[in-house]
Amino acid sequence: MSKQNFYRTIAAELARIDASKTSKRFEHLIDSFTAEKNPKAVINGRSYAVFNSNDYMGFRHHPGVKEAEHEAVEKLGTGPGAVRFISGSFAKHRELEKALASFHRKEDAIVLSSAFAANLAALFSLSRKQAKDSLLGMNVCIISDELNHRSIIDGIRIANLAKEDKRIFKHLDPVSLEQEIRSCVGKYDRAIVVTDGVFSMLGVFQDLRAVRSILDRYDGEFPEGVLLIVDDCHGVAAFGKSGRGTEEVCGAASDVLIGTLGKGFGADGGYIAANQVVVDYLREAAATYIYSNSIAPGTAAAALEAVNILTSAEGTEMLAKLRANIEFFKTELLKAGFELAADSSHPIQPVLFGTAEKTKNMVQGMFDAGFLLSAINYPVVPRGRDEIRVQLSAAQTQADIGEFIAAFRKTAFELGYLA
Ligand SMILES: Cc1ncc(COP(=O)(O)O)c(C=O)c1O
Repeated sequence: MSKQNFYRTIAAELARIDASKTSKRFEHLIDSFTAEKNPKAVINGRSYAVFNSNDYMGFRHHPGVKEAEHEAVEKLGTGPGAVRFISGSFAKHRELEKALASFHRKEDAIVLSSAFAANLAALFSLSRKQAKDSLLGMNVCIISDELNHRSIIDGIRIANLAKEDKRIFKHLDPVSLEQEIRSCVGKYDRAIVVTDGVFSMLGVFQDLRAVRSILDRYDGEFPEGVLLIVDDCHGVAAFGKSGRGTEEVCGAASDVLIGTLGKGFGADGGYIAANQVVVDYLREAAATYIYSNSIAPGTAAAALEAVNILTSAEGTEMLAKLRANIEFFKTELLKAGFELAADSSHPIQPVLFGTAEKTKNMVQGMFDAGFLLSAINYPVVPRGRDEIRVQLSAAQTQADIGEFIAAFRKTAFELGYLA
């Protein structure tokens, strides 16, 4: 017996994953980007239009954002050097946190290495008392939308609650949510409700106004109330007239907002925006903040510049262009004879094909035609709802989208998927 046996078992598991056609590790490697305003990805010497990126505003190639990062790297170096509470706190981190808090109309924000780390931090720290002499109530239930992101699921796992204290409500169903909350009354010190804002598979969103009104009704029924955590990684800097995401679209606020800097803001890292006492507490309690580096100061500077642009007249114009691109795409796509898997007003547009094979052939056909796309398959979406997830950006022109639709139509026609 030896670890060689274990390695052989892993190799067999990899072969099983590959045979099921769900492997993820054979990524295209992007060598560079072209110099166009909406840059194309260069892979093995050929350029590809990008329709599968979360960079909804086009900030990662914005000259001002790149310049801010270069300047900060020159002044501050490439990495944080230590975790925040040792010597890894830079003025740029605080400036960014203040800008994010003000953008989200919260009292403060805390930046972490990723939104994944932010979800782990929030769910772990706010669900249980952390130390023997902590004053937080011990009896907590977490109520989670059944299709929440993996980082929320893992956050709930590490919160280490008993099975009966982890409740699931039906996807986007306020009636089911209320049933779960009602069944928790009298049993817990506090309830935590957690949901994605925008759900990334279909571009649909939780009705936060309905959720908020239920939570407000039950807040007084628990000694420590009901807390709403919203992970709006796909909503922020993509959705809403000023880019504040699902909160803005629904006209309702979360108590704790999780965002990423690695999608709409075009940089990297994650954050939690909340009231002062919650953010102060997270700096004391969140393991992924205390024991893990934050983002590099250059990345913080890039993200800060992206927030500043988003909140300026230029940002408002970019968001208006993104909305116009979404409308144009939907109109042209439906005209071309395709079906959408959901009516999304978000830059995520899910085109229904129904089988994994069709989506795989479409992605390959479009790659051959010079476009990068992603297929979303069962079990991430229900069987028979396999889709191509098209992601739009403010950097695209209507000509870019027109070219995409023409190629999409030609590819689907040649594969026999369109009459
Ligand atoms: C809803 C949601 N939450 C969290 C994350 C994690 O974001 P990050 O890449 O910043 O860790 C993602 C990214 O896939 C996401 O879609």
